Amino acid sequence: MGRLNLTRRGFCAGGVAAFSVRPTWAATPDDLTARKARVQLAPDGYPMTEVWSYDGTLPGRTIRVGQGERVTRRLVNDLDVPTSIHWHGIRIDNAMDGVAGLTQDAVPPGHTFDYDFVAPDAGTYWYHAHTNSMEQVARGLSGPLIVEEADAPEVDADEVLMLDDWLIDPDSGQFFDDFDQPMALSHAGRMGNLIGTNGQYQLEMPAQSGARLRLRLINAANARIFVLRLQGLSGWSVALDGMPLAAPEPVMDEIILAPAQRIDLIVDVTAPEGETAALLRLDDDDQWRGQVAFPVQGARSGPRRDRPAALPPNPNTALPDLTAARSLDMVMEGGAMGRLATARYKGRDMGFRDLVGQGQFWSLAGQVGMSDEPFAELERGEVVRLRIENRTVFAHAMHLHGMHFRKVAADGALGPLRDTILSIPEEPLEIAVSADNPGKWLFHCHMLGHARSGMTTWIDVT
Ligand code: C2O
Ligand code: CU
Repeated sequence: MGRLNLTRRGFCAGGVAAFSVRPTWAATPDDLTARKARVQLAPDGYPMTEVWSYDGTLPGRTIRVGQGERVTRRLVNDLDVPTSIHWHGIRIDNAMDGVAGLTQDAVPPGHTFDYDFVAPDAGTYWYHAHTNSMEQVARGLSGPLIVEEADAPEVDADEVLMLDDWLIDPDSGQFFDDFDQPMALSHAGRMGNLIGTNGQYQLEMPAQSGARLRLRLINAANARIFVLRLQGLSGWSVALDGMPLAAPEPVMDEIILAPAQRIDLIVDVTAPEGETAALLRLDDDDQWRGQVAFPVQGARSGPRRDRPAALPPNPNTALPDLTAARSLDMVMEGGAMGRLATARYKGRDMGFRDLVGQGQFWSLAGQVGMSDEPFAELERGEVVRLRIENRTVFAHAMHLHGMHFRKVAADGALGPLRDTILSIPEEPLEIAVSADNPGKWLFHCHMLGHARSGMTTWIDVT
């Protein structure tokens, strides 16, 4: 521990509701104000960073509600640009999904939008901007959304760990503002040179030896796939993308967390007093570095606890019946070193070179970016199998709005519910979706630069 985890670029240091005009009365507790703020993102000694924030903090404050409760927030847009909020992973009313241009108009500067929805599932979710999200999320517009079980497991602490990276000029402390840099869009995406947790470049969380912690990991990075390992901590994973696993699974080796994915861990601090337990991260140079440090202070008395019980299931856990399911195919193409010849963009067939001229690099099922017609029209309640073929040389974190889905293994076995899944080049991937939530739902890569440069489509459930 203690090594600075800065990389590259020279850090060193050791449904369309009407808008209402912004009210003149004072902010109520239910406001969520998107505004600029200055925060100390880089290590002490470096300049502060101007970020786009919710209510002045990065990440935005954790919203915690009980399962089945309403979330009500008035987005107040104090930025100079339009914005909107998406509630990632919530099986939400479509009109509240926050996708500018599909489920609502972007909220202009000086205006507000009232979000009001029920959170039907317990678990770890997050909220983030969904207007020009490639830039807005990178500048800081995201925060955790935690929906608590009525009957939560007994732990000594329940901590949210929002993992992120930022691309900052070390001299000025400001974000590099080349958000649509073609090199990043056409390769693995925009990677930060400063990696941190909960808005801090090196987060420390003191813990007692023998304590049991629930760690809710959220990958809020634009493109970074976190490869993680526990040190001085041992335990189980109990939920993925908010949804409880049928049984806790011991964490044996590396945890891979793609952009937008979440994992809930229940871990016991096994490191003795005076040592430091840690969540470690594998960096590009193949070095493991500290992502979060847990300096062990004191010891918890009492015997070591048993394996935790599974989290109580959410209401949507019935396995889909695949016998009559329709199969849909989606080929992913494009990107640097890809083989994309032509694809449809804005109603025209275009060659790769012309697409590049438009700042577009990727296609899903032959389509670049949004089309007027959805990729698929599904009947409410219908089960579909989506076969994804990744003909690019990059991994993509594919996210479906509004509904979770399950991976279908080659032998037909169904995996756990997820809302974001990593597609690996040349590895066939099949998912099964029960279309039980009506509305217009995006399906896109959560490497947000990829989403912006072609990898965004939608389905319509009626
Ligand atoms: Cu987390 Cu369409 O997004
Ligand atoms: Cu992608």
